[in-house]
Amino acid sequence: MRAYAELSPSPRSIMTPGPVEVDPRVLRALSYPILGQFDPEFTALMNDTMEMLRLVFRTDNRWAYPVDGTSRSGIEAALTSLIEPGDKVLVPIYGRFGHLLHEIAERCGAEVVTLEQAWGRVFDPADIADAIRRERPQLVAVVHGETSTGRVQPLDGIGAACRETDALLVVDAVATLGGMPVETDAWQLDAVVGGSQKCLSVPSGMAPITYNARAEAKILARKRVERGLRVPGMANLEPAEGRRFIQSNYLDLAQLQDYWSAARLNHHTEMTCMLYGLREGLRIALQEGLEARWARHRRHEAALVAGLEAMGMRLFGDSSCKMAVVTCVEIPEGIDGESVRAMLLSMFGIEIANSFGPLKGRIWRIGTMGYSCRRDNVLRLLGAFEAVLARHGASVKTGAAVQAALDVYEAGEIE
Ligand SMILES: Cc1ncc(COP(=O)(O)O)c(C=O)c1O
Repeated sequence: MRAYAELSPSPRSIMTPGPVEVDPRVLRALSYPILGQFDPEFTALMNDTMEMLRLVFRTDNRWAYPVDGTSRSGIEAALTSLIEPGDKVLVPIYGRFGHLLHEIAERCGAEVVTLEQAWGRVFDPADIADAIRRERPQLVAVVHGETSTGRVQPLDGIGAACRETDALLVVDAVATLGGMPVETDAWQLDAVVGGSQKCLSVPSGMAPITYNARAEAKILARKRVERGLRVPGMANLEPAEGRRFIQSNYLDLAQLQDYWSAARLNHHTEMTCMLYGLREGLRIALQEGLEARWARHRRHEAALVAGLEAMGMRLFGDSSCKMAVVTCVEIPEGIDGESVRAMLLSMFGIEIANSFGPLKGRIWRIGTMGYSCRRDNVLRLLGAFEAVLARHGASVKTGAAVQAALDVYEAGEIE
């Protein structure tokens, strides 16, 4: 048999919009011994995680727990549990992940109505609110931070329009949770999905989710208990009269919430190590303080942007709705974007991202998220990026970028 080399991944500066570098404390937590999933010591960790998720999502919702799977499992769990075949769903689209919401809603059997905005811009929230009043959908699904374009959609007034028309509002906050404000209760969001592998700096594999009583009412009306788990005397085994049971078993929030409640109804086998990691990532975020964490992301963004502009790079997109945690840079005419990325990785160990669809080959995306969002990473990236661009024959102003970023750091007295 071939002798396989011992696992030894290279150290990297991961400056993409996810996955990003993981805090060493989270890596350590991932390696602790397994506990049984109904061991009281483990269920206490589950309860801690729910409590910390409520704080991070800024909600008093009873339900806040992770769905096992990558972030889209959380999105799919919310949509498949909340959309009944034939429901009308409104999806405002301003990038790749809006298209994903459309795609999943269609697969749930919804009649989907979309609004489209050019990539690089967002909607005036009043236009979304008007469309809600006009279309009267049962559900509205919108991306908060669109990583494909680096834009953030203001959500004010959208929740109120949903309450007025009795629609549920589902928000993809995968890329913003833990790095930018996500105010579940204040913004009247009915269900919110976060990401582990972005601003929370935990590996990919769990999708934090929260939803309120309005969403729960719809979920419970569609609840069906798995046949092999039914015991004599158990009530509400099938959905309410005329309602359609939730299509997915794995992503069924009605059964998942039973597992996350004191009843601990058996469903899947919990991902023990991932739960350790998520709990540690949440603990670290709360220890830093959410406001302080958002401010840290803004400060490193300011240094990065100052450096890129000093170098003469053009930033992509409408600056008034730029995400603090993603910076999109236009690839200069005649420069091979993939070759620049490859050289950054092979020569400097730094990873940045490309983009999708209409922006493929047109922009690079630089993430400053979670544990990757650090001064040493920003300065190293600026120096390396300048060198690699010059090596590719791009016209860049050399020697200015790192100095501009240092000016920002020194002026702001950043750690
Ligand atoms: C805004 C947004 N939504 C959803 C997803 C999907 O997440 P995952 O790849 O973890 O399933 C991503 C991933 O990059 C994202 O950036």
